[in-house]
Amino acid sequence: MSGSIGLDETLAAYVRAANPPEHAVLARCRRETDAMGDISRMQISPEQGAFMQMCTRLTDAKIAVEVGVFTGYSALATALVMKERHGSEARLYGCDNSEEYTAPARRYFEDAGVDDVIDLRIGEARDTLEALKDEIGGRADLMFIDADKTGYDAYYEAGLDLLR
Ligand SMILES: C[S@@+](CC[C@H](N)C(=O)[O-])C[C@H]1O[C@@H](n2cnc3c(N)ncnc32)[C@H](O)[C@@H]1O
Repeated sequence: MSGSIGLDETLAAYVRAANPPEHAVLARCRRETDAMGDISRMQISPEQGAFMQMCTRLTDAKIAVEVGVFTGYSALATALVMKERHGSEARLYGCDNSEEYTAPARRYFEDAGVDDVIDLRIGEARDTLEALKDEIGGRADLMFIDADKTGYDAYYEAGLDLLR
C-alpha cells in the first residue's frame, strides 16, 4: 500500500485518527492500484489525500485543477469534499495524457458519485491548461500539480493565470 515516506506508524495512526475515515472507493482505488505493481508508487498516500481534503475544506474550493490524475486517488479525495460542500456546481478539471492510467479513475469517480463534477481532459497538460485559461482563468480556488517534474515550471506559470 502507498504510504508517506518517513511517517512512522505512531504518526500515521495520529493522522488517521485526526481525519475522517477514508471513503470506501478511495480505499478500493488504493488496493487496486497497489496490485498494478511498481507503478503504484505514483499514487499519493492516504495521509496526503487527507491533507488535500483538509486544504479543500480550508479554501472551500468550488473550482479545482489537477495536473496528473493517474488512477484518480487525489482527484477523488478532492472532489468528494467539493461535492459535499458545493453539490453539482463544483468542478474539478483533471489533466492527464494517459487514457490507460485514467480508465480506472473514471470508474472510481462514477462509483463514488462524483463523475458529474470531474471534467477529465486527456492530452498534454500544457495544452489543457492553456485551453482552461479561456474557460476558468482567474477563478480556480485550488491547484494540485503532480505530473512530469520537467513540466512543473510551465504548470506553475499557467496556474498563476488560472487561480483567483
Ligand atoms: C504521479 S502520477 C499522478 C498521481 C495522482 N495524483 C494520484 O493521486 O494517484 C502522474 C500522472 O501524470 C501524467 N502525466 C505525465 N506527464 C504528463 C503530461 N506531459 N501531460 C499530462 N499528464 C502527464 C501521467 O500519465 C500520470 O498519470
